[in-house]
Amino acid sequence: MDYLKEMFSLEGKSVAVTGGGGVIAAAMSEAFLKAGAKVSLWDIKMEFAEAAKERLTAETGAGDRIQALEVDATSEDSVRKAVEACASQLGGPDVLVNAAGGNRGKSDFVDVDIELFEEILRLNLVAGLMVPTKVTAGYWKEKKMGGAIINMASMASYIPLSGVWAYDAAKSAVMNLTMACAKEFAPDNIRVNAIAPGFFIGKQNKALLIDEATGGLTPRGRDVIAHTPTGRFGDASELAGVSLFLASDSAAGFVTGITVPVDGGYLVSNI
Ligand SMILES: NC(=O)c1ccc[n+]([C@@H]2O[C@H](COP(=O)([O-])OP(=O)(O)OC[C@H]3O[C@@H](n4cnc5c(N)ncnc54)[C@H](O)[C@@H]3O)[C@@H](O)[C@H]2O)c1
Repeated sequence: MDYLKEMFSLEGKSVAVTGGGGVIAAAMSEAFLKAGAKVSLWDIKMEFAEAAKERLTAETGAGDRIQALEVDATSEDSVRKAVEACASQLGGPDVLVNAAGGNRGKSDFVDVDIELFEEILRLNLVAGLMVPTKVTAGYWKEKKMGGAIINMASMASYIPLSGVWAYDAAKSAVMNLTMACAKEFAPDNIRVNAIAPGFFIGKQNKALLIDEATGGLTPRGRDVIAHTPTGRFGDASELAGVSLFLASDSAAGFVTGITVPVDGGYLVSNI
C-alpha cells in the first residue's frame, strides 16, 4: 500500500477546479480529496460552488480542505484573485483543472445563432482553457513552482457531434491547445493533459439527453447509447482514476500533451 500511496497520494497538494460546482468537477474533486489534496472550487455561481462544498464535505469529511469561491473563468482579474485566495488559504495551487464548460442548443449550420455560437465558444475555450491557464501558468512561472493542468476535452474533440458547431470547434481546440501548451510549458515543469469524457449526465447536457417529462431518453440520448459499446452513460465517479493519474507527478511525471478518452468505447464504435 505504501507503493500506491507514493504513486498516487496528493497529500500537501492543492487543486483548483474551474466550473467547480459542476457534476464532473465534483466527482474529480472527490477523488482529489480522498487522495489527500486540498480543493479550491471556482464557479461563476457561488451557490453551485457552496452546494458542491457541502456535498463533498458530507461525502469525505474533509470540509477543512475545501474552499468555495465565486470566480468567472472568462475574467483574468477574477481568476487572478482566485489563485491568490487559493494560495493564501490552501497553498499552491499545484494543479489546475479546467472544468468550466458545457453545451447549449443544437441547430442546422445555416440556422446557427451567432450570438449563442460566440457564447459557447467563450465558455468552452476562453473560460474553459485560455484564461485560467494563462493566469495560473503565469503565476507558476513567476514563482518557479511547476504544476499540472487537466483540461476537459470531449468526444467532439475527435469527431464532430452533429449540430453543436461552437462546442465542436471549442473542444477540438481544447485538444489542440493541450498539446501546444504542453510543449510551451514543459521547460517550466508544467504538465498539460486532458480528459475526453464520453457521455455523462451534467447540468447543461441533461435536457439534451433525458426527457424531463418522462425521465426516459431523448432521441439524442438514444443515439448516444446506441453509439456507446458499453450501452450506458458514464458515471462521473469513473473519471476518478484518470484524474488522480494525471494530477500525480509520481505517476505521470513524464506524461504531457495527451488526451485520455474515458468513453465506454464511443471512439471505437463501428458497424
Ligand atoms: N457531461 C458530459 O457528458 C461531458 C462530456 C465531455 C466533456 N464534458 C466537459 O466536462 C466539463 C464539465 O462538464 P459537466 O457536464 O460536469 O458540466 P456542468 O454543466 O455540470 O458544470 C459546469 C459548471 O461550470 C460553471 N461555469 C459556467 N461558466 C463559468 C465561468 N465563466 N466561470 C466559472 N464557472 C463557470 C457552471 O456554473 C457549472 O457549475 C465541461 O467542460 C464539459 O464540456 C462533459
